[in-house]
Amino acid sequence: MVSVRFTALVAATGVLAKTPAGFTPASQTDLIVDFGGVSALNGVVVSKGTTNSQPQIGTLARLNGTSYAVMMVDLDIPTNNPPETNTLLHWMQTGLTPATTATQLNTTKGSSKVFLLENKANVAAITPYFGPNPPARVPLSHRYTQLLVDTSGLGEADAEALRTAAQTGRGFDVASVLSKAGLQGKLVAGNSFNVTNGGQAVAANGTATATGRGATGTAATRTSTATGRASQTVVRGAAGDGVKPGSAAFAAVALAGWVMAGL
Ligand SMILES: *[C@@H]1O[C@H](CO)[C@@H](O)[C@H](O)[C@H]1NC(C)=O
Ligand SMILES: *[C@@H]1O[C@H](CO)[C@@H](O)[C@H](O)[C@H]1NC(C)=O
Ligand SMILES: *[C@@H]1O[C@H](CO)[C@@H](O)[C@H](O)[C@H]1NC(C)=O
Ligand SMILES: *[C@@H]1O[C@H](CO)[C@@H](O)[C@H](O)[C@H]1NC(C)=O
Repeated sequence: MVSVRFTALVAATGVLAKTPAGFTPASQTDLIVDFGGVSALNGVVVSKGTTNSQPQIGTLARLNGTSYAVMMVDLDIPTNNPPETNTLLHWMQTGLTPATTATQLNTTKGSSKVFLLENKANVAAITPYFGPNPPARVPLSHRYTQLLVDTSGLGEADAEALRTAAQTGRGFDVASVLSKAGLQGKLVAGNSFNVTNGGQAVAANGTATATGRGATGTAATRTSTATGRASQTVVRGAAGDGVKPGSAAFAAVALAGWVMAGL
């Protein structure tokens, strides 16, 4: 009985991890993404807390290249012109090598054998991983896509193109970046998961959309001031203009301020 269930779980783990529908470049090859035992595959919603630290990634098939890069991009950054959205690079790590033996990964979605991508040479991340933090703005749920790119034999000029592209994390366009770095067609596996802000959406002008009243101050102001403590001060002040501390709207407004620092 136990073994039957185990088999079912293994089968379920075989569920595809892939890039989100409509996203290009697209990949249908499983990129396994595991946050300390929590499987974050194929568009599932995972909690923000789960995704604070960088995941282990791997593939089900053994890769034959010598060097790989992973990128993670938020495809649903709110803008001041909803429903328009922007993108944001969350992670770019080069110099990964595929393990030659598979590791048994035990996750919330069962158990599977995965060839992990390892940073054995301790290559410094181009963009160190920072976790999802979707603000209380539309869209409340964000898709985070992870892309594994074969960078075997990447030349120095192309590596430099990746570093340059990563400097502008906002508006990060994967297809264009891969093209600039001579990496078109080198996407070998992909995945995505969602993280959702459980609060109430706040309009771009800072008004809680459901109550139609509340904070003053624009999102633009927050963006420019949104670094750590400064943004909290701005937002608390703004929230005080119409939203009671402790109310859901206050929480949403405060959250909107905090997250502008690092969506
Ligand atoms: C790796 O395998 C793929 C598919 O089998 C093949 O197209 C590719 O040329 C191989 N790469 C190397 C470096 O052997
Ligand atoms: C997963 O579980 C199996 C069987 O219980 C165990 O042998 C293996 O070491 C576990 N893997 C990890 C990475 O903990
Ligand atoms: C993930 O986020 C996208 C963009 O907001 C949304 O369209 C989609 O419904 C979300 N997926 C889930 C499972 O909530
Ligand atoms: C803020 O935006 C909302 C929704 O678009 C709108 O109803 C409201 O009037 C705006 N408030 C201000 C102060 O501009």
